Amino acid sequence: MTTGMLRDDALTGKTIIVTGGGTGLGKSMTRYLLQLGANVTICSRRQAVLDQTAQELTAELANHPGAGKILAVQCDVRNPMEIENVLAETVAQFGRVDGLLNNSAGNFISPTERLSYKAFDVVVDIVLRGTYYFTLAVGKYWIENKIKGTVLNISTTYATTGSGYVVPSAVAKGGALIMMKSLAAEWGKYGIRLNAIAPGPFPTKGAWDRLFPEPLASMMDPTSRIPLKRVGEHQELANLAAYLLSDFSGYMTGECITIDGGEVLAAGEFSHLEKVTEDQWDMIGETIKQANKASKQEGK
Ligand code: HXC
Ligand code: NAP
Repeated sequence: MTTGMLRDDALTGKTIIVTGGGTGLGKSMTRYLLQLGANVTICSRRQAVLDQTAQELTAELANHPGAGKILAVQCDVRNPMEIENVLAETVAQFGRVDGLLNNSAGNFISPTERLSYKAFDVVVDIVLRGTYYFTLAVGKYWIENKIKGTVLNISTTYATTGSGYVVPSAVAKGGALIMMKSLAAEWGKYGIRLNAIAPGPFPTKGAWDRLFPEPLASMMDPTSRIPLKRVGEHQELANLAAYLLSDFSGYMTGECITIDGGEVLAAGEFSHLEKVTEDQWDMIGETIKQANKASKQEGK
């Protein structure tokens, strides 16, 4: 079981907004940011889920020295007015905002030809438009108030490669990645940094219900294609996220770090050859050497 990586006061004095902080990876990252001393505002569409998470984490960290405080504000990231409200409520409660963790997402697996027009819009609106709206609102606030803020986007490994069966998500995550890099170049002059993490599979109810439902779950083991042969632990992701939101990563911007146990690399043309047995490798080696010998003799 992985433990926290940074020292306990690593985020003391910072305030971070986490979209989608009520569930899954957003909740795990929020827990760790609080432990490191940050105040955190979590926001998403379901106020009851946010309140439950806020209560749970407050109780859990009651005896953790230096832990930050949590605020839960309802917000649909597709609605700029609700985003402005999260910003205003956060500033009213904690005095300022230093970090934005764009973690909210919508996604589901489906052959593209089965999708309606609206199915594309709903995912792109949450992931791409929502990330843009939130980054813009917080970025304007930082520029106006001369705050050297930090944005971290939770991306996916297929944001760069593309992927079948999740086309709206791939398009939206790809767009958000390029936006992050573009703004890293443009807003560097204000001291604003933007980075991203591309996680491989980290089990959460939200993702598993929509990406590995039955009968898919029984048909495919998500770990089988991963060189490290396991899924990720939430704390492993939280450690990386906290580092990228902290001043320790102060010279990093425009970067996307993959944390996937090598899953993307396993797509390499010959990476599936782990199924070849030792005896077969002996045979293959011999055959190649014979061919080399024959070709040398041909050249004489
Ligand atoms: C085809 C579907 C569909 C499906 C929804 N739609 N699910 N089409 N196959 N499985 C279509 C609907 O028919 C509808 O179009 C349109 O999408 C909008 O659906 P609604 O249910 O009305 O939308 P809404 O209630 O706003 O819900 C949004 C959602 C939902 C994105 C569809 O899944 C959601 O709330 N998701 C939030 C959490 C989430 O997705 N977490 C997973 C993130 S995991 P029509 O035209 O019929 O009206 C992730 C990980 C990636 O991103 C990498 C993992 C390894
Ligand atoms: P999750 O628990 O379903 O998280 C998605 C969050 O987004 C929920 O808290 C949801 O809350 C929020 N959300 C959805 N629509 C929203 C909207 N319109 N406005 C505001 N918030 C909204 O799934 P997860 O696995 O933790 O995913 C978190 C992030 O990790 C996502 O960006 C996902 O793409 C990324 N990711 C996950 C994996 C993985 O293996 N789990 C892998 C790669 C990338 P509400 O329903 O309350 O709005």
